[in-house]
Amino acid sequence: MYPILEKRRLAEGIYLMKILAPRVARSARPGQFVIVRTDERGERIPLTVADYDPAQGSVTIVTQTIGVSTRRICSLDAGQSLADFAGPLGRPSEFIALSDEELRGKRFVFIAGGVGTAPVYPQVKWLHEHGAQVDVIIGAKTRDMLIFTDAMRAVATNLYIATDDGSEGFHGLVTQLLEKLIAEGKRYDECVAIGPMIMMKFVALTTKKYALRTTVSLNALMVDGTGMCGACRVTVGGKTRFTCVEGPEFDAHEVDFDEAMRRQGMYRSEEQRRAAIEAERAAGHKCRIGLDQ
Ligand code: NAD
Ligand code: FES
Repeated sequence: MYPILEKRRLAEGIYLMKILAPRVARSARPGQFVIVRTDERGERIPLTVADYDPAQGSVTIVTQTIGVSTRRICSLDAGQSLADFAGPLGRPSEFIALSDEELRGKRFVFIAGGVGTAPVYPQVKWLHEHGAQVDVIIGAKTRDMLIFTDAMRAVATNLYIATDDGSEGFHGLVTQLLEKLIAEGKRYDECVAIGPMIMMKFVALTTKKYALRTTVSLNALMVDGTGMCGACRVTVGGKTRFTCVEGPEFDAHEVDFDEAMRRQGMYRSEEQRRAAIEAERAAGHKCRIGLDQ
């Protein structure tokens, strides 16, 4: 069992939880994710790590209530426990292989959309600790839905905020703010975008115009998280790739976002995902969901 050390409401339907998981906390790296279950029969929910503290042995996750299973996670309180907390899974962000000297010579821009702001944080924190220059753009529907702004301000070189309704910061989408910054003379070597698929698609289209290398973190449907079932497949550079073992980060200019969004739409509700997962379990993980579609 994995005890919940702390629980906080960040915004409407968005909760932060610190989980005691010393082995995961010791080996987690920026960009990786965990798969969580509230009980032995619960759905396996993939969540990108939002922070980790090896000294305390804790890992921070941020969950948005979108269906039965995520509501179940969010209904738990500090003192209660999660049944499963598997990880760290997936490949860490590529930049962690760079030397501090290489990192100091690079200008990064991170685009964080809504709940996707949480997994951006450990990446920016890591880069800050290694001397890189990191601008961050956070986008949300309204000021009430902004999360992690204080934490991000402490590690970002410059923090820019955009809200769809103009209630805080720039009035418009993150892509419009990025274009504005570039028009004002900002130059970047690397862009990382994490948020809703539609945002990542349009960030990729925007940065392609400027030949700005861009990485996205894909939150595909996952079942086993071990590369066996095929549920998390995406097309990158014309090839099928499995998000859970080959991702979650990919070259944004190579991702087939329209296909990824179509597949996400097939399982739009958590209930539809559960049905797909039950079918997968019943087949003993022999089939690869939708591989022939
Ligand atoms: P949201 O809908 O509020 O969007 C956040 C920001 O994205 C907006 O403020 C806007 O600036 C930008 N955006 C949205 N549509 C855009 C477009 N067409 N063009 C350019 N920019 C656009 O975000 P939300 O409601 O918090 O999103 C939740 C989604 O994020 C869920 O689908 C969830 O699965 C996903 N998510 C992804 C990850 C990941 O690892 N990729 C992590 C957490 C959540
Ligand atoms: Fe990736 Fe099953 S979740 S292959």
